[in-house]
Amino acid sequence: MNALRSTVDLGLSPDRTGKVREIFDLGDQLFIVATDRISAYDVVMDQLVPGRGCMLTIMTLAWLKLFPDVPNHLVTADPEQFPAPFADHRDALAGRSMLVRKAAAFPVECIARGYITGSGWRSYQAEGHICDHVLPQGLLKSQLLPEILFTPSTKAEQGHDENISFEEACVTIGEADASTLRDLTLKIYGTGADYAADRGVLIADTKFEFGKIDGRIVLIDEVLTPDSSRFWPAADHVPGEEPPSWDKQILRNHLDTLDWDKTYPPPHLPDEVLEHTARRYREVLDILFPEEVARWQSVLS
Ligand SMILES: Nc1ncnc2c1ncn2[C@@H]1O[C@H](COP(=O)(O)OP(=O)(O)O)[C@@H](O)[C@H]1O
Ligand SMILES: [Mg+2]
Repeated sequence: MNALRSTVDLGLSPDRTGKVREIFDLGDQLFIVATDRISAYDVVMDQLVPGRGCMLTIMTLAWLKLFPDVPNHLVTADPEQFPAPFADHRDALAGRSMLVRKAAAFPVECIARGYITGSGWRSYQAEGHICDHVLPQGLLKSQLLPEILFTPSTKAEQGHDENISFEEACVTIGEADASTLRDLTLKIYGTGADYAADRGVLIADTKFEFGKIDGRIVLIDEVLTPDSSRFWPAADHVPGEEPPSWDKQILRNHLDTLDWDKTYPPPHLPDEVLEHTARRYREVLDILFPEEVARWQSVLS
């Protein structure tokens, strides 16, 4: 399994470096590379989880195939079709990179919630509702919601995103587009959550991003990965308790044993924590998309 810290190590110069992804602006296309960096509590760890970027990317590609009628930004993830200069680094970039059409991203994050947890649970406990959705009394933490909720949030350039009402989303991006994003969000999440639940994986909630290309709304960014969603093992789901998250729980559990103030610099992690974390990503990929695992075997082994 090759590991990638940064495309800079390949001699490349990304136009944007996020916590995990590096983005190259090619004009009307973007080349998006998912590295093997991992963050917890908003701090990027010094060490890598080898293959993590591949597993996240391969999962996104697999979901996109499952939603053939939802327009999306993908041009290709086939290493043979990488443009220069990325073609010179096929081995390092295969499986973790996507060439996509550049969209004008909507300034709202489209969140779907099937189970009540996270900021939704906190808001329900404090006020009895999530955004503008009033909910029945007596729901338990992590319980299945009576219906899937669309709870948009702002896409903050700095700091944390803030939940907004559907009406506020309408003010920001217009009612017609807001309605389309809501309908797409509910549809994609519903289809994905059903597919995963059939395989013993609950997707508690997720965040999608959409953009416009030539006036058409398309799904962009990563899709239904453990980074953009909460994945829970269905077997461990007990309403009233917070199920362990599929992927980052190992890391968080370890970090919580340390006397670390959750600011930079991050602590040095034992190999065992990194390996166990990598196995968790692989496990859920194997469960959900065994055919894609076989197809990308050379990258994943
Ligand atoms: N097709 C696309 N067109 C324009 N922007 C995109 C596209 N796909 C993804 N993005 C943007 O690229 C960024 C992905 O990088 P990432 O490191 O995940 O950033 P963030 O920290 O904002 O999540 C996001 O801001 C996302 O909106
Ligand atoms: Mg992101």
